[in-house]
Amino acid sequence: MSFPFISAEEAASHIKNGDNVATSGFTASGTPKVVTVALAEKARRLHEQGEPFKINLYSGASTNDYVDGALTRAEAINQRMPYQGTHVTRAAVNEGGMNYYDPHLSHVSQDMRYGFVGDLDVAIIEVTEMNPSGDVILGAGLGQSPTIVQMAKKVIIEYSSYYQTSFRGFHDNYVPLDPPHRREIPIYKPSDRIGDTVLHIDPKKIVGVVPSNESESIRSFTQLNDTTRAIGYNVADFLASEIKARRIPPEFLPIQSGVGNVANAALYGLAEHPGIPRFEMFTEVVQDAVMTLMEEGKCSFASTCALAFSDDAMLKFMDEIDFYRDKLLMRPSEISNHPEIVRRLGLLAMNTALECDIFGFINSTHINGTYMMNGIGGSGDFCRNAFLSIFLCPSIQKGGRISAIVPMVSHVDHTDHCARVIVTEQGVADLRGKDPRQRAYHIIENCVHPDYKEIMWDYLKIASKAHMPHNLRAAFALHQTYQESGDMRLVDFSRFI
Ligand code: COA
Repeated sequence: MSFPFISAEEAASHIKNGDNVATSGFTASGTPKVVTVALAEKARRLHEQGEPFKINLYSGASTNDYVDGALTRAEAINQRMPYQGTHVTRAAVNEGGMNYYDPHLSHVSQDMRYGFVGDLDVAIIEVTEMNPSGDVILGAGLGQSPTIVQMAKKVIIEYSSYYQTSFRGFHDNYVPLDPPHRREIPIYKPSDRIGDTVLHIDPKKIVGVVPSNESESIRSFTQLNDTTRAIGYNVADFLASEIKARRIPPEFLPIQSGVGNVANAALYGLAEHPGIPRFEMFTEVVQDAVMTLMEEGKCSFASTCALAFSDDAMLKFMDEIDFYRDKLLMRPSEISNHPEIVRRLGLLAMNTALECDIFGFINSTHINGTYMMNGIGGSGDFCRNAFLSIFLCPSIQKGGRISAIVPMVSHVDHTDHCARVIVTEQGVADLRGKDPRQRAYHIIENCVHPDYKEIMWDYLKIASKAHMPHNLRAAFALHQTYQESGDMRLVDFSRFI
């Protein structure tokens, strides 16, 4: 069977108002790049004619301007799941312009198969190779492609000719059976391959193939600064001391590293520290730092859901692809983040907090408890199940007007039961085996910025003498002070005594 080449506009004509639409890829990597832009154009045209047009969009994780950006600007998204990260989508989510459902990333594919979000009308899949039987090679991100091609009534293929080198061999397509038939997922070390290199799509579902030649358009990371470098050093030094103390075995344990500037810096910290041995990664995204670590021989293997390389790094990766063939494997998000495997492999999980409190509760998502930043992503998948769950953040934000460590977080994503270690540029608080009062002491002493230490001690003085010492009237006084005067340092606890 050969499939017709169609234009992006014709592909978009197969998508109707109210459809549930899922896209390939994870982060910007492997997402569609032309059909979604044509779909946004269609929505804009219909809106001008006074006709409604919105879809429900289910991606692997955050996407890029071709998907979230274009469709949000065209007001074409009704319901969005999961993690998002573009400025426009964030604004729409917060202004009520779209409904945003933010599950753990390991749950998304099974939630879809369980029918929790309804039937799937259309899947748009970026491929880099395909044959007439419907066997395809995906691109730089795997996401939830294996599930959505099974579920979708129609599949639109975007055939990318951007990559001149083949991705064949870098994917491990696998879909677990659903309960009550599910068995163990047989990954016993990060490099174990359990699925197929190719993904089969039922040819009868394929409505057409749209040519595309766009890059992933990922920008390079912000350069390390003194703060992120110090966080990287602190986490590496802590892990090195854990090896010395024999709580981490001498051969080390696989690393999971979160998203963003801080997580990127932490990886560089591991690379530079002489006490950290060569390691493997079992993680959800690999960013530019991992390529450097592999070149330097520090990282020997990474299991991931996507190669989220900046455009420059991706070109280099393609040039040197043979070097990476036995070092990288992409898996569906359901597997890259699977709690069973995270627990079995004993991961050292490093994720970034927006805000953390003096008792170890973590806010990863909502600024001031209300404003959605990105989403929970895989942080919960890893944090709850890791061998050691570490949260990183700069101790202050916005030039010191905000303390990232507060008496009580304004939104809870991860509880004090899960976060074991807090690291800022100031130092490390090891929370293992400590009660809330002891945790508060260690976090204030080791992680809080000097401008805020007295403020935190003052809070504890006016807190109740209970197991979890709090003063509920004053718990959000820092947040309120920031909203009223723009600087948390101006907080005044005297009115709560
Ligand atoms: N209050 C207000 N703003 C805050 C803040 C706080 N407590 N903490 C951070 N910010 C702001 C920063 O000032 C910065 O703003 P800017 O873009 O205007 O400069 C922005 O948030 C990003 O902060 P930054 O320190 O650069 O962090 P990052 O790039 O490392 O990203 C998260 C941090 C938390 C947003 C990001 O890691 C995330 O979305 N995490 C949740 C999902 C997750 O952990 N996934 C990984 C699982 S694999």
